[in-house]
Amino acid sequence: MTESIDPRVVAIEDRLANVERVIAVTGSKGGIGKTVVASLLALTLADRGRSVGLFDLDFTSPTDHVVLGSVGGFPTETFGIDPVSVAGIDMMSIAFLSGRAATPLRGGDATNALLELLAVTNWGSQDLLLLDMPPGLGDTSLDVLRYVPRVEFLLVATASRLVVDSVRRAAALLTELDAPILGVVENLQRRAGGVVHDLADEFGLDSLGAVPFDESLEVALGDVRALRDTDAYAAVTQIGEESVGRPPST
Ligand SMILES: Nc1ncnc2c1ncn2[C@@H]1O[C@H](COP(=O)(O)OP(=O)(O)O)[C@@H](O)[C@H]1O
Ligand SMILES: [Mg+2]
Repeated sequence: MTESIDPRVVAIEDRLANVERVIAVTGSKGGIGKTVVASLLALTLADRGRSVGLFDLDFTSPTDHVVLGSVGGFPTETFGIDPVSVAGIDMMSIAFLSGRAATPLRGGDATNALLELLAVTNWGSQDLLLLDMPPGLGDTSLDVLRYVPRVEFLLVATASRLVVDSVRRAAALLTELDAPILGVVENLQRRAGGVVHDLADEFGLDSLGAVPFDESLEVALGDVRALRDTDAYAAVTQIGEESVGRPPST
């Protein structure tokens, strides 16, 4: 008996054929800065002339468009839908389609949203596509592992034992599944060293750098010019230049 294949899975391979690298920014716990790191990484790489896509996969709480100050975009349709250009980044978010309405998703809905959006979005050719992951290791994480070809993972953690405990589970799962992990970024750093470094050592992962706790970030959200003046942007720029251009360690 032949297994039937969801046509969207084949379409996704096509849509991503000219995307050089796909990096999922993850970290399991919520509120640790995955969205901020993914958005600033997209911004700094675009500022430095790379072609970058940013896909917000936190379907129930999408916020990349808030960080980057895009409120009015709506994807146009050609043969598929085109991402919205925001500060030189090609962005896709369920928020572009739903506006401010809540987008609760149950069971297979998250999988369908992911497959649907990946299957119809014209990413074109990109040096890099960043996936901003939702918290947890639920459907979306498992689907990204299953359906997104060549995906690599960048782990975000903070120096809290609660966060590290949670990110450790993500690192263990990805390691067990032989998924490529680019390394660990420490966010909201107040002092150097400590538990995030230990976590990277424990799994033999690269420490990609740290983003400081930056008081000026909150007021800069939504204004890319102000974001470029923040210490967080400067730190993410260094991480982008030093790490994201390198091949991942497996
Ligand atoms: N380096 C930082 N300095 C100051 N505030 C930060 C920093 N990183 C994230 N934040 C803030 O922390 C909160 C959670 O960040 P967010 O990126 O939404 O986390 P996640 O995507 O992991 O849930 C937001 O209010 C964000 O503005
Ligand atoms: Mg987020």
